[in-house]
Amino acid sequence: MSGPVRKPLLAAVRGERQERPPLWIMRQAGRYLPEYRQIRASVKDFLELCYTPSLAAEVTLQPLRRFDLDAAILFSDILVVPDALGQKVSYETGEGPVLSPLDAAGIAHLRPDRITTVLAPVLEAIERVRSNLAPDKTLIGFCGAPWTVATYMLGGRGSSDQAKARLFALREPEAFAGLMDVLVEASISYLVAQFRAGADVVQLFESWAQNIDEEFFAAAVIEPNRRIVEGVRAEIPDGPIIGFPRAAAAMLPRYVAAVGVDMVGLDQALPLQFATTALPAGFGVQGNLDPLRLVAGGRQMAARVEAIITAFADRPHVFNLGHGIVPETPIEHVTELVELVKGHK
Ligand code: CP3
Repeated sequence: MSGPVRKPLLAAVRGERQERPPLWIMRQAGRYLPEYRQIRASVKDFLELCYTPSLAAEVTLQPLRRFDLDAAILFSDILVVPDALGQKVSYETGEGPVLSPLDAAGIAHLRPDRITTVLAPVLEAIERVRSNLAPDKTLIGFCGAPWTVATYMLGGRGSSDQAKARLFALREPEAFAGLMDVLVEASISYLVAQFRAGADVVQLFESWAQNIDEEFFAAAVIEPNRRIVEGVRAEIPDGPIIGFPRAAAAMLPRYVAAVGVDMVGLDQALPLQFATTALPAGFGVQGNLDPLRLVAGGRQMAARVEAIITAFADRPHVFNLGHGIVPETPIEHVTELVELVKGHK
């Protein structure tokens, strides 16, 4: 009798150091792939793609047909959560997401209890991917962390400094705390449902863990992420969780010590030596190649890949970019990257 097939990426997240790092690529399904652009052109808007299980599942699997990646990540978006809570979300071509205005009164009307009902099509996409995925591949689910999602909900769109959301939080602390509570509750229900639908691992995307002082970081990043990990583990006791507090910089060790994630994602601005000295020995890391090194390709990329793998050789490591792959990325460079990581000696 043979036992269950091993999933190297899942094993790494659980804390096992591997001979060579398993890999996936943030935003691996997306506009740099012609087969993605083709499906994207067949729907009226981006949310329709997220809410059509057959299409979301198909797009999730596309990158694995081309590249020898160790994981599929659910194709969806962090902003399906505000959409499900009752805030209007749309994606304007060339502009990114746009959300209807939200004030203190609007926060009181958000509906975290509806989350798994409205997001049932996303959960169905997970089930479909699960049944079409090779047994050695890990399936990653995700949600946005509360602060990052709140920056879009309060700002109405993306911004480089998140000033609207930061000012709202400072001027209306009670309403802001209410919003964090709604997002913590919704995220717990959503991630638990993702595990039950077949996700092996989930990632918390805290894309805007920057521009804020240490006190704000503790209240808006660390505490809500910690509550989510605690809430998910109450239902899924050993549910593996990757935290990605992008650009947390010097706050990273405090995040790791307090939040309770199994592995932490590192953006490219974090020096390798800072990670190896400031994080506990044996603590797992994911990252952190600059996505533009992948666009440029060639020898600079190969050298940096080598430096990253070498720096993390004595701890669990999942190879990844430091942030999402960009649409300009040549497909041949992705093939080359996968070969470099897989061929590492
Ligand atoms: O990694 C994957 O392949 C899974 C799919 C995924 C998407 N968004 C698809 C997407 C994931 C994990 C996300 C997460 C996400 N979405 C984050 C956190 C990660 C990060 O990059 O910081 C954030 C901040 C968002 C919000 C968001 N969604 C923005 C700012 C935009 C517009 C900018 C952009 O990159 O286009 C989106 C739209 C979006 N989400 C697209 C895709 C493939 C492009 C939309 C299209 O195809 O028209």
